[in-house]
Amino acid sequence: MEQNQENEVISMPRIGDAAPKFKAVTTQGDINFPADYEGSWVILFSHPADFTPVCTSEFMTFASMEEKFAEANCKLVGLSIDGLYSHIAWLRTIKEKIEYKGMKNIEVNFPLIEDITMEVAKKYGMIQPNEDTTKAVRAVFFIDPKGMIRTIIYYPLSLGRNFDELYRVIIALQAADEFDVATPADWRPGDDVIVGPAGSCGTAKDRMEDGDIDCKDWFFCTKKLDKDTVLDRVLRKK
Ligand code: BEZ
Repeated sequence: MEQNQENEVISMPRIGDAAPKFKAVTTQGDINFPADYEGSWVILFSHPADFTPVCTSEFMTFASMEEKFAEANCKLVGLSIDGLYSHIAWLRTIKEKIEYKGMKNIEVNFPLIEDITMEVAKKYGMIQPNEDTTKAVRAVFFIDPKGMIRTIIYYPLSLGRNFDELYRVIIALQAADEFDVATPADWRPGDDVIVGPAGSCGTAKDRMEDGDIDCKDWFFCTKKLDKDTVLDRVLRKK
């Protein structure tokens, strides 16, 4: 919990916390979060406002990648502090009128939460008052199939998200779980992965001598993890 300048308590969920629960009205009907998403990864993201250009570019990109995320067992849920009819009108406009970077006739089929009361945005720390008091920042919560928050990324109002990175995160989180490894800087499927830290002097010594493990030093060891093996395991789970 933090306090803003007016001493209002702001809740900020953290990595490792259970995703805060809420019920909401969306463009795809009512949802009960995260219960309705048990068994799937979810990207819950906020955007500042409907009918704004950066948000429009982001929604078109999210919608055009929805199937790709679905193949990685990941569902998308958006939110802004706008009403349902504004959401519907904006999504209709995107489909009917907006052409951007080769994307056109884009239909947003994932739910967009109406949050005029800011109830959900406040629960998730999406309102950052020194950035804006009535618009959500561009928050991205990666929530696992058990409803636990696994990664959080925040961007300010002016900065559109990097969707290659959002997809990389969803694959890397699942690869780390599936193969009990960590992923180094800029990791992508096919790159070497990090073997967990040696917990004893014996393990450290064994590591250094294991031909399948490449140790730069006893604390920094990598091993090969084939791209197809990663993608087969992550993408087959949908
Ligand atoms: C936009 O999405 O274009 C935007 C929204 C709020 C502030 C600045 C830009």
